Amino acid sequence: QLTKALIIFLSPSSTQAACHGKDGLRSGPLQDMTFFVPEATPGYYIYQVNITPPANSLRLTGEKDGIIEIGAKNGILYLNGSLDWETKKVHRLQVEALNEKGERVKGPFSITINVEDINDNPPVFSQSKYYGEVRQNSRPGKVFMHVTATDRDDPTTPNAQLLYSILHHFPSPYEEILFQIDNKTGAISPRNKYLDPEKQADFLLVVTVKDLAGMSGNAFTSNADVAITVLENLWKAPLPVFIMENSTEQHPLSITKVGSRNHSENREKPARFPFIIDQNGTIYATEPLDREEKDSYVFDAFAKDNYGEALARPLKISVTVGDMNDNPPVCKRALTIFEVQENEIVGNYIGTLHASDMDQKDTLNSRLQFRIVDQTPKIPIDNLFIVQKETGQFQLSSSSLNRRVASNYSVKVEVSDGVFATLCDVWINVIDINDQIPIFEKSDYGSLVIPEDTQVGKILLAIQANDADEPFTGSSRIIYQIEGDQNETFRIETDFRTNRGYFKINKILDYETSPVYSLTILAKNPEPLVSGIQYNSSSIAYVQIHITDVNEAPVFFKDTYIVDVFENVTVGTFVTSVKAYDPEGAQIRYMLISNSRNWLRVDSYTGDIYTTAPFDREIEKAYIVQVVATEQSKESRSSTAQLILHLKDVNDNPPSLVKNSIFFCYPLSGGEKIEIEATDPDEHRLYPKFIFSLGGGETIQNDWIVHGFGVRRAHFSPKHPNLQKMQYSIPLKISDNGNPPLQGNVNLQVNICECTEDKTCFVPLDPDTSRPTVAMAVGILVGVLLVIGKWILDLRGLQPRIDKEEEPRERQGYIQKLRSSR
Ligand SMILES: *[C@@H]1O[C@H](CO)[C@@H](O)[C@H](O)[C@H]1NC(C)=O
Ligand SMILES: *[C@@H]1O[C@H](CO)[C@@H](O)[C@H](O)[C@H]1NC(C)=O
Ligand SMILES: *[C@@H]1O[C@H](CO)[C@@H](O)[C@H](O)[C@H]1NC(C)=O
Ligand SMILES: *[C@@H]1O[C@H](CO)[C@@H](O)[C@H](O)[C@H]1NC(C)=O
Ligand SMILES: *[C@@H]1O[C@H](CO)[C@@H](O)[C@H](O)[C@H]1NC(C)=O
Ligand SMILES: *[C@@H]1O[C@H](CO)[C@@H](O)[C@H](O)[C@H]1NC(C)=O
Ligand SMILES: *[C@@H]1O[C@H](CO)[C@@H](O)[C@H](O)[C@H]1NC(C)=O
Ligand SMILES: *[C@@H]1O[C@H](CO)[C@@H](O)[C@H](O)[C@H]1NC(C)=O
Ligand SMILES: *[C@@H]1O[C@H](CO)[C@@H](O)[C@H](O)[C@H]1NC(C)=O
Repeated sequence: QLTKALIIFLSPSSTQAACHGKDGLRSGPLQDMTFFVPEATPGYYIYQVNITPPANSLRLTGEKDGIIEIGAKNGILYLNGSLDWETKKVHRLQVEALNEKGERVKGPFSITINVEDINDNPPVFSQSKYYGEVRQNSRPGKVFMHVTATDRDDPTTPNAQLLYSILHHFPSPYEEILFQIDNKTGAISPRNKYLDPEKQADFLLVVTVKDLAGMSGNAFTSNADVAITVLENLWKAPLPVFIMENSTEQHPLSITKVGSRNHSENREKPARFPFIIDQNGTIYATEPLDREEKDSYVFDAFAKDNYGEALARPLKISVTVGDMNDNPPVCKRALTIFEVQENEIVGNYIGTLHASDMDQKDTLNSRLQFRIVDQTPKIPIDNLFIVQKETGQFQLSSSSLNRRVASNYSVKVEVSDGVFATLCDVWINVIDINDQIPIFEKSDYGSLVIPEDTQVGKILLAIQANDADEPFTGSSRIIYQIEGDQNETFRIETDFRTNRGYFKINKILDYETSPVYSLTILAKNPEPLVSGIQYNSSSIAYVQIHITDVNEAPVFFKDTYIVDVFENVTVGTFVTSVKAYDPEGAQIRYMLISNSRNWLRVDSYTGDIYTTAPFDREIEKAYIVQVVATEQSKESRSSTAQLILHLKDVNDNPPSLVKNSIFFCYPLSGGEKIEIEATDPDEHRLYPKFIFSLGGGETIQNDWIVHGFGVRRAHFSPKHPNLQKMQYSIPLKISDNGNPPLQGNVNLQVNICECTEDKTCFVPLDPDTSRPTVAMAVGILVGVLLVIGKWILDLRGLQPRIDKEEEPRERQGYIQKLRSSR
């Protein structure tokens, strides 16, 4: 019976040594004890208590549950049956030692038995079958359902750690599995975007849950079926919506629906945006719409989840607002005025009453019909006028008009759109017939003499004709027309209150082309004359205009002459010719003014221009002079034109150094280099590129290096550190990339000098001068690479330092140069 290997854990409180009894069973004295016992182990021997006299037996009481026993005589604590962690996790017992008489001699001591879980429970799904729905096009990873399983084992041990997986997937028309399950939470989501109810709407997944975190072959396993239905995506743009305007229904009024629950949200409402959308994707109009304000709306509906993340692309919603006849007709003018002549014949057209309706064009809602409802006065008869029902055109219905009976009529017209009617006012003036022609006060306005430089707009003459018809009507108004003026050099403006005409200059006069105008002026009415009456010679007047010549200044053919010339042209070269003519034909003489550099001269007879000196583009890129043309006449009038000479570049300048002195700190450490830069005022194709080289003899070549880089720079450095503390003058050759190239020979002043701690060149002044005895020549030093900045004399209170050594004369001269260049 005692063949089982027993493992007993003593609690830390049982520090007293327990020795092993037979078969390795632990034993020890009676005391408080705690044991850990695995569940489901029947016939388990836990411990042997040593029974020491006077005791000769033991008694166990407490939560024995019919399983925990102790051998009264041998002291062995054992299980008669098995404990179950899931039923009871801790058993509390007491043990006491008894003597022969059954009296307690020791104890009671407490015995605590902790039951340890073993993996003896399989996980159990909460349902044997689950049902889920997922929407087509759902975002992969978006959870649409969960499965849940529980395990009764100890959740702090792997025994209850569950791992979910998908075992089968029915059917599987795709290469990939379409669903995924979160192995910890049982959350199920689409794996990809292939869900399509038209292809396959129903799926059955068999999901598995394993305990022991799925890591052991001994894990318990359970399965459940998951039926999944793929729903059609309702997130589709609906058909365009049509709503009648001015709806009397309750608002908000449902107008269309997009998507399903959990979808739908609209955004970015314009200032007035009478639509809303609810959680279910139903779109409502919030108020009656007005087609006349806006006849259609287009907006987007957005579907977002609770986190504001877009679920699907926006849908375009179009709403068209239908027309209702809700606008009355409107008269175009508060008062419409017509004129009708006394002798007008029956049926003649008088005028049109215009009205409009804001309702939709070309529909019955905006169809207007006209009807005369009143005429005042009704003399000599009523219904003198007819209005055409559909067009509003007025006609005369009877020839009984007579100014002396009634000079005007007020007519009220009802304009109706079928629902609304508006009254429009019409005023009809009965006017005198146009039986009088305009008569000029005189038929000959004689001859006018005006100089050709008279300004446009000047009034030359006032003319007058009169018409005896009724004033302020088209029968008496006068329009003057000029004949014999093809180029519209003149025009006549009429004061319609007085019919006085003002004869004005309309265009610049030119004696040389048209010295004389013989003009005929016709006076006419805008209204036609009644038959039998004609304009006769009394409606015609004549005037002659004589233009007098004015001596005008010469005229150049151009205001500005522009010429391109190479800067190296030889002196005396012909440049261009500037020509002027005199409108009066006088001879012209030319001269130049503002010829600031005297680079040009002009042939005073011909206007030909020649060079008189060498040009230099580097001084003047564009040379500008004024040419004056003067007529050879008494008045000697003259005019001026500008000549711009653009000088084209020739490579005529050798390159030079931007900065021609540098310094190195003494003693040299080797590896120093200083950047030097060349420049050249010529223009070079694209960019200048300079080639640097050392001039001079072998000594120079042995001591120095120049190495070009980039397009205009070079590094200059000593070839070795054994150079003396002094000033060197290094000849450099710099060539440009002109065609042909030019070479500049320059001297670079190189000073090898003591430096102060902040790496500035320390140069004492010439003691012979009256200047401060000690000064600093300061350069700017950047690391080893020295870049020469501005040389300045610095008196910043630095400690004067007298150099005891005799300075070479050359260097003192250099210091003076520094000072003078300051
Ligand atoms: C175990 O318990 C049973 C009854 O439940 C009893 O008959 C048997 O004698 C017990 N065995 C021991 C060793 O206590
Ligand atoms: C459970 O899923 C996670 C990520 O989803 C994965 O890293 C892990 O390996 C999975 N565990 C097992 C046992 O498959
Ligand atoms: C909307 O979401 C709720 C909770 O998130 C869910 O219960 C419901 O089934 C969803 N409805 C649809 C149509 O997706
Ligand atoms: C959305 O629809 C559900 C059922 O279809 C309904 O119970 C709910 O009231 C609706 N929500 C709104 C805001 O209309
Ligand atoms: C709606 O119609 C009624 C008559 O049918 C009209 O009086 C009202 O002005 C209309 N409202 C709008 C906003 O057009
Ligand atoms: C209109 O006619 C009436 C008489 O019929 C007259 O008294 C009135 O002056 C006229 N008005 C105009 C502006 O001609
Ligand atoms: C009208 O203008 C043309 C061209 O400008 C000119 O040739 C002609 O002489 C002018 N005629 C009169 C009458 O001024
Ligand atoms: C022109 O006609 C008017 C009447 O219409 C008349 O008074 C005038 O004498 C006529 N003039 C000439 C020159 O015939
Ligand atoms: C002027 O320069 C151009 C371009 O460099 C050259 O072709 C031409 O011969 C030169 N002319 C004279 C007169 O030097």
